[in-house]
Amino acid sequence: MANFIKIEDGQTFAKEMFCIPQHYEEYVESVMIPKGLILNRTERLARDICRDLSHGPLVALCCLKGGYQFFSHLSEFIINHNATSGQSLPFSIDFIRLKSYENDVSTSDVKVIGGDDLSSVTGKNVLIVEDIIDTGKTMQKMLNIIAEYKPAQVKVVSLLVKRTPLKIDSYRPDYIGFEVPNNFLVGYALDYNEYFRDLSHICVINKKGKEKYATK
Ligand code: HPA
Ligand code: MG
Repeated sequence: MANFIKIEDGQTFAKEMFCIPQHYEEYVESVMIPKGLILNRTERLARDICRDLSHGPLVALCCLKGGYQFFSHLSEFIINHNATSGQSLPFSIDFIRLKSYENDVSTSDVKVIGGDDLSSVTGKNVLIVEDIIDTGKTMQKMLNIIAEYKPAQVKVVSLLVKRTPLKIDSYRPDYIGFEVPNNFLVGYALDYNEYFRDLSHICVINKKGKEKYATK
């Protein structure tokens, strides 16, 4: 099974120890994973991925929007690894968008609301890059969609995996950055109704924040 850094329940940092944008300060409860630690862990995930997928071209598929920061940093580390290791791993990128969240509730209805022509993945090794796996529903939908395009191999990397009782068949990705408690998390491109993506660190949102930015 994939290795990961386990963040224990209640294991957070005081927000006063970090730089938080002023417009979010009163809505953040605490910092769970500072950006520096995210980057260090991402560098190692890139190394593991390059080790395992060194045969043939790799298509990295970014799950928008929440995955864009992780995707950007992971891609940079993979490209740097390619440039310095003497290994040849032709690397291309693509994007897909799925949505399943309303406020902090995962809806049963996962929608594909954007994305490219995925015929670029046919016959290639595909790396699906996700920000967070919660119930596992979105990823199962994603894997079904990708399978239709007949890739050679599909691997999934998720920066975060939540400890939640809702997980379908306890789905686990091939690579995991951190296992996190069952809190609603924001920052580093993870959103709450499109807010908080512009926050560097992965943070726990407070009650006031949930109320302030609720859609209904
Ligand atoms: N935060 C943001 N998006 C999410 C989360 C979360 O905790 N879980 C699933 N999608
Ligand atoms: Mg997401």
